[in-house]
Amino acid sequence: MLDERSHLWKTLQIQCIAPKVLKIGSMETRTRIFSVVISSLFMFSFVCFVKGSLSFNFYAASCPSAELIIRDTVSSSSSADPSIPGKLLRLVFHDCFVEGCDASLMLQGNNTEQSDPGNRSVGGFSVIDSAKRVLEKFCPGTVSCADIIAIAARDAVEIAGGPRIMIPTGRRDGMVSVASNVRPNIVDTSFSMDEMIQLFATKGLSLPDLVVLSGAHTIGTAHCNSFRDRFEEDSTGKLRLVDKTLDSDYANMLMEQCPAGVQPSIKVNNDPQTSLVFDNMYYQNLLHHKGLFQSDSVLISNDRTKILVEDFANDQEFFFEKWGQSFLKLTSVGVKSGDMGEIRISCASTNS
Ligand code: HEM
Repeated sequence: MLDERSHLWKTLQIQCIAPKVLKIGSMETRTRIFSVVISSLFMFSFVCFVKGSLSFNFYAASCPSAELIIRDTVSSSSSADPSIPGKLLRLVFHDCFVEGCDASLMLQGNNTEQSDPGNRSVGGFSVIDSAKRVLEKFCPGTVSCADIIAIAARDAVEIAGGPRIMIPTGRRDGMVSVASNVRPNIVDTSFSMDEMIQLFATKGLSLPDLVVLSGAHTIGTAHCNSFRDRFEEDSTGKLRLVDKTLDSDYANMLMEQCPAGVQPSIKVNNDPQTSLVFDNMYYQNLLHHKGLFQSDSVLISNDRTKILVEDFANDQEFFFEKWGQSFLKLTSVGVKSGDMGEIRISCASTNS
């Protein structure tokens, strides 16, 4: 059963990368193309690894307690405020998709990424800043903000009940943060499946990665206006469900929590069952037509993604295993290493 699933998984990964190439030509040509694709993929990942120059325990000599300090900061902040794991997990996604995982999202100032409306509700910055302050005392100028973001998100998942993952470090901090780079690189809830696949592909992430990483919505919250497009206001000023794919009890609950004219600061849980726990409930909810965003619900409208949703809903361990692999890919997107970028002294500003 596991073998069958792994085979299906690999097939899906490959189909996403080269769907058209594999449909053409004779059997022999297809086999040849297939092996070229496989060997290119192997070379590509090898080159990425070498070029990326990230390594496990990168700070072993220069700052041995780095990961421990970050973990302690995430742990104590999360005990004081249980919404922190969700914030940190979203922060790494929005950082990595714009300019790569380089902490460009941490930079403050006029017209930086933070000022784009797509990032207005991103949080967790203060946790990264406090870890950085401690690290600057123990190992000045050594640990990048980009690594702190990636490790903090990794730890946040574990603290919320998810799997423990090893991730390589050695990312360097970027010098560029421009608001206009955000829109073209961040997924909107109204995106179709094809649009999401395309954007993820530009980051080297496959269709299965999209399904796995969407599982992040098993924790955290969302503002009422982020799923408002699933409802419309009737002549009496009451909300009415537009998107009939949504479970009606769930839709009623959302309309109660987020009635017409609700305060913009009001939020609902992404996962109505276990919002503080990183588990596979997101996928179980999806199968019960309780996906909060249209971009969640769409994952069961397509056979290729629905089968993965079912697998993850049925087997949390399988989801955790795949989460580890996809999270590793997410936190490797566009990383800067070697003499690229810098190690910031303060995450909020570049050194010069
Ligand atoms: C695939 C397309 C995705 C879309 C369209 C999307 C969209 C959103 C939106 C609109 C919110 C609510 C923001 C708010 O109103 O405060 C949200 C929350 C969240 N997203 Fe996503 N997201 C996507 C993928 C991801 C991925 C890949 C991750 C991480 C790996 C992620 C992690 C989160 C988390 C943890 C929250 C809760 C944040 C909090 O509690 O503050 N999302 N997402």
